[in-house]
Amino acid sequence: MSAQVRKAVFPAGGLGTRFLPATKVIPKEMLALVDKPIIQYGVEEAIASGIEQIIIITGRGKGAMEDHFDHSFELDATLERRGKSELLAVSRGVANMASISYVRQKEPLGLGHAVLCAKELVGDEPFAVILPDDVIDAEVPCLRQMMNVFNERGGSVLATQTVEGPAISAYGVLAGSPDPVDERIYNCTGMVEKPKFEDAPSKQAIIGRYVLTPRIFELLEQTTPGAGGEIQLTDGIKALLKEEKVFGYTFEGKRYDAGDKFGMLQATVEFALKRPDLGPQFRAYLKALQL
Ligand code: UTP
Repeated sequence: MSAQVRKAVFPAGGLGTRFLPATKVIPKEMLALVDKPIIQYGVEEAIASGIEQIIIITGRGKGAMEDHFDHSFELDATLERRGKSELLAVSRGVANMASISYVRQKEPLGLGHAVLCAKELVGDEPFAVILPDDVIDAEVPCLRQMMNVFNERGGSVLATQTVEGPAISAYGVLAGSPDPVDERIYNCTGMVEKPKFEDAPSKQAIIGRYVLTPRIFELLEQTTPGAGGEIQLTDGIKALLKEEKVFGYTFEGKRYDAGDKFGMLQATVEFALKRPDLGPQFRAYLKALQL
């Protein structure tokens, strides 16, 4: 088994019902955050983390993602003819960004099932999972931080954020104990999906980044459908942590749930304010709103 994390799986086969009606025809992953589809942020994070191969799990009606990461000859020819060299570089840059393979999930049977669809392409090596709706703004890419923990500790790593109060009930929550050496690391012994506030075993909420060992594939194959009739990734990870070390890692950075309308609005405002070309004008506009 290669010890290097070289491949990242992007489950993008879900229906995106929280964003209807926008997602009736347009894949959720293709919704624009400022001017980039949300999945592109994740792909850029993976590349900046040193990932060599991207595997996107797609489904029915998700073809726009493949077109997005491919050459658009008509568009490129038109931009070239019009002398729009900067835009041409943007368009070509996206197509040349990464080596991407696609696997089609024939039915949206759950996140665990989506990850299992990547089994043949990943093979017998550790790999990353990036949920494209979770867009993370960080100085050191979140996945890079996690790969460093994986390299140091040699066990699967789940990205977490500390969630105070009843909001914890929206997440998968880790059970275990903080690492005595590194305060960002949590030694995980269990996990509970969407617990009641009073039953939550910790404040460590799992978000959409994982580094997993390939053993997860065999465990997912044995996993029976759980909540909502779906094969849950968390059920596979629960089985994994009975056999191997699994760590929580409180990453440095800020995560936005861009698959949710409110989360997308927050990300839009904050990303736009940070943009040198839009920020000053947008800031002035927001101030003038006198809310
Ligand atoms: P979500 O539950 O956030 O996505 O799954 P969803 O089902 O698309 O959206 P809602 O909840 O109906 O709005 C997390 C990730 O797992 C993928 C989704 O595409 C998303 O990136 N997923 C989920 C799959 O790839 N296949 C599935 O069967 C389910």
